[in-house]
Amino acid sequence: MRAVYAESINPDSPLDGLVVGERPDPTPQDGWTRVAVKSASLNHHDLWTLRGVGIKSEQLPMILGCDAAGIDESTGDEVVVHSVINTEGWRGDDTLDPGRTLLSEKHQGSLAEYVLVPKQNVIPKPAELSWGEAACLSTAWLTAYRMLFTQARLQPGQAVLVQGASGGVATACISMARAAGLRVFATARTEGKQARARELGAHEAFASGARLPERVDAVMETVGEATWSHSLKSLKPGGAIVVSGATSGAGPSADLNRVFFLQLRVLGSTMGTKSELAALISFLRITGLRPLIDREIPLEKAADGLAAMASGDLVGKIVLTV
Ligand SMILES: NC(=O)c1ccc[n+]([C@@H]2O[C@H](COP(=O)([O-])OP(=O)(O)OC[C@H]3O[C@@H](n4cnc5c(N)ncnc54)[C@H](OP(=O)(O)O)[C@@H]3O)[C@@H](O)[C@H]2O)c1
Repeated sequence: MRAVYAESINPDSPLDGLVVGERPDPTPQDGWTRVAVKSASLNHHDLWTLRGVGIKSEQLPMILGCDAAGIDESTGDEVVVHSVINTEGWRGDDTLDPGRTLLSEKHQGSLAEYVLVPKQNVIPKPAELSWGEAACLSTAWLTAYRMLFTQARLQPGQAVLVQGASGGVATACISMARAAGLRVFATARTEGKQARARELGAHEAFASGARLPERVDAVMETVGEATWSHSLKSLKPGGAIVVSGATSGAGPSADLNRVFFLQLRVLGSTMGTKSELAALISFLRITGLRPLIDREIPLEKAADGLAAMASGDLVGKIVLTV
């Protein structure tokens, strides 16, 4: 089958280890199913894998990709793949399983004609979402859903700041926060991206680090070092910073004086559960909200998409069609 995979690890030049080529057709083990992929989306996770974050060279070649929508070959159903793979017999919150992995960490990923997943890791794809839209949900949109509603527990009428507005998780946060009745502020590094954030639903968008007109109840943080200090300064006393990524670096000053004096809450967040994925899909059906897709390109052009992501040349999600 055709697949997009990491053949070697290159921390400084991640695309050097990328191959679009042939991999063996996979056969599911007991309890697993094979999904014929229609669309799959790129995530920053794919660049981390190529850089060697969360994977060792002895695991290569590894097919990239955490998200997919396609046909479950054991049932013929149109499905969205849930990327969080739990250890057998795990009960409870999928994301709290100490042995959980995402597709492309231990098991081969979804940027391919076929992907194998445990049978319980598929969820029906709603007919009103396109294949491309459905392929955006399992990582970026699920992560954003859990950050806003499970971790920060934001309520209609409250205010939120989304840092790094153009990213996959960030565009999802902006769209869903607006649809949920929140006051939405966003930051982005260019005026063009700030304008796109406003179009997407941000009430106001600013340059990274700019003072906000009011302090917010929560900040959605995926940028890390470059925005952390601004995130802490933007919070009301008792506010929450929810962090699910650190694209620009993971070692900012913790500013502990501010954290304890203002009783700020720092909440880590990773992916989401299958029931949160179901709730997210329901949210999209009820509101009519759809993932912002920057571009849809053929699987063969994966390198172009990953290069755009590495240079920050995107607004929303990049989808590969298979
Ligand atoms: N924990 C989880 O489960 C989970 C799930 C999904 C993603 N993540 C992590 O979250 C991060 C975002 O993922 P993604 O897929 O949404 O990535 P993405 O689509 O590539 O977006 C990254 C965004 O970060 C901003 N950014 C990057 N470097 C920056 C800098 N130096 N200063 C300011 N802003 C900067 C950019 O926003 P602007 O150009 O608009 O400023 C960029 O668009 C990644 O680190 C990813 O690994 C974690």
